[in-house]
Amino acid sequence: MKQIGAARKIGACFLPRLAAILFVAAFLVSPALADDLSGEALFGQCKACHDIGPGARHKVGPHLDGLMGRKAGSIPGFNYSGAMKAAGGSGLVWNAEMLKLYLERPRDFIPGNRMSFRGMAEADKRDALIGWLESFSAVSPADDPAAAASSGDHQAGSFADIVLALKGDRDYGEYLSGECVTCHQVSGHADGIPSIVGVPRDYFVRALFEYKVNIRSNEVMKLRVNNLGNEEIAALAEYFGTLSPQ
Ligand code: HEC
Ligand code: HEC
Repeated sequence: MKQIGAARKIGACFLPRLAAILFVAAFLVSPALADDLSGEALFGQCKACHDIGPGARHKVGPHLDGLMGRKAGSIPGFNYSGAMKAAGGSGLVWNAEMLKLYLERPRDFIPGNRMSFRGMAEADKRDALIGWLESFSAVSPADDPAAAASSGDHQAGSFADIVLALKGDRDYGEYLSGECVTCHQVSGHADGIPSIVGVPRDYFVRALFEYKVNIRSNEVMKLRVNNLGNEEIAALAEYFGTLSPQ
């Protein structure tokens, strides 16, 4: 008991002082924090493997000029992993949203890709870095005629945006839904398995996309979604979106 009392007493006089120290420390630290958030400084974590700016060359990783709006794994002359090329093949285009997900946990976002970078957890740092990378988007590298030629369709969005732009065929969706209603009830009742009846198209498509790229990890759904192409996802979204829960 005596010891507890003593500890309390120390605590009582120490805590206000600690608060004062932290208050002062916050001011001392803040210029350093601001510095941390410069895109150029953050690129220090990428520099060992990536070059950027006019005349940039491939290093361990591909150069990052003209990145925004470019299909993943698509610069000629760089030897990408099969996983990165497949991601591009199934519609992954680099934009701020996709980079934010990729740079958070590269290995989870594209399993099997060859970039040995653990990831950048802090969202504000990723935003700052991506903003800085974006400023090199107009740079068309001299050795990359393909990037220069395709700059017209650089507005393309993410996977999900590509699917959302498709007009889903409701009848085709109804036909495909046979595979889904063994688990998800057409009535909209949910017992353990979520209802997907009357779900807004946008939410539906993004949910499936998140299984595809491993943001959502449910194995059962990942298996289903991996077999679905863009037309099929659009058709299913259309069909389930038009049903009403009973
Ligand atoms: C240890 C080396 C290494 C580090 C560090 C690294 N990368 Fe990479 N990066 C790679 C490799 C290798 C690839 C190609 C991956 C593949 O083909 O699977 C790649 C691919 C990429 C791609 C895809 C490019 C394309 O053309 O599709 C982007 C974007 C990227 N890296 C950004 C970054 C950023 C931003 C950082 C710093 C936060 C970073 N990388 C850190 C090695 C690295
Ligand atoms: C074997 C059972 C099963 C089958 C078949 C199945 N699902 Fe699922 N589905 C699930 C489970 C379980 C979840 C919840 C998973 C989770 O927690 O992420 C889910 C989640 C979903 C979600 C996300 C719902 C939400 O509220 O976020 C959508 C959308 C979805 N499924 C659509 C489909 C479609 C479309 C099909 C048919 C192509 C299908 N599912 C087939 C079991 C199944």
